[in-house]
Amino acid sequence: MKGSMIKKSVIFTIAMLSLLLISNFANATHGEKREVKKGILLVAFGSSEESAQISFDNIDKKTKAAFPDVPVYWAYTSHIIRNKLAKQGKILDAPEVALAKMRAEGFTHVAVQSLHTIAGEEYHDLRKIVGAFNQMGGFEKVILGYPMMSTQEDMVKVVDAILKNTPKDRKTGEAVVLMGHGTPHPANAFYAALMFQIQLKDPNIFVGTVEGYPGIEDIKSLMLKSKIKKAYLMPFMSVAGDHAKNDMAGDEEDSWKSILTKAGIKCEPILKGTAEFEDFVNIWIEHIKIVIAHF
Ligand code: CO
Repeated sequence: MKGSMIKKSVIFTIAMLSLLLISNFANATHGEKREVKKGILLVAFGSSEESAQISFDNIDKKTKAAFPDVPVYWAYTSHIIRNKLAKQGKILDAPEVALAKMRAEGFTHVAVQSLHTIAGEEYHDLRKIVGAFNQMGGFEKVILGYPMMSTQEDMVKVVDAILKNTPKDRKTGEAVVLMGHGTPHPANAFYAALMFQIQLKDPNIFVGTVEGYPGIEDIKSLMLKSKIKKAYLMPFMSVAGDHAKNDMAGDEEDSWKSILTKAGIKCEPILKGTAEFEDFVNIWIEHIKIVIAHF
């Protein structure tokens, strides 16, 4: 269903852009050369939670500071979130609509930056959209930047960022449990890969997922094996939104806090998304720099 919706909106955008392109080709035949205009399009899944806005504001601020001469635009990939926000009067575009608008505003080079954590389903949907704009022409360059955790170099940076931002008052033997989103996409393997690499440096840091592997039961047995008595729970998602508040730190029986507490592990949730920390945001910013270096 999601795929066909994307297809429809891409087709719609192609139709809109065709009109734009016809006028553009007409200009080209008259020898007009368009002035170079560079832009950045930040693309997140989106969230309607108030608590998530801190993360988006932080990324926005840091991106504008790193690229003071380049206009920064936003798009959300989730149509459910966009519809919810629209009812509150907050209009956010889908990435294909944002790109069509940027094309109409005369941008020639666009760095589309995925604000996802791994290259899962949403990232690959975004690749298709950027690919469609490349096929159509119209921009001189439209390039998609990797999500946060893509290359081994990123992985090293993510491990460092986690180690640097774990609670300062954590005592020996206390654990940190990171809650990733998880996905049926093959990129889900990144979570276990991250846990392997981080445990080489700190064996009491665990990485689980809400919707993929490893799940909380896997993490719980590892923690019991290590005789963990206390754990800090932190989202490993850009925002501390619905999953962090409910699935991680909620009082419901099936929240991670409840499951671990029941197993005799005292839990202290920290409701802060990765995008609230400079070290994680810098990884996305580095990826934008790589894209802009290809303009
Ligand atoms: Co979710």
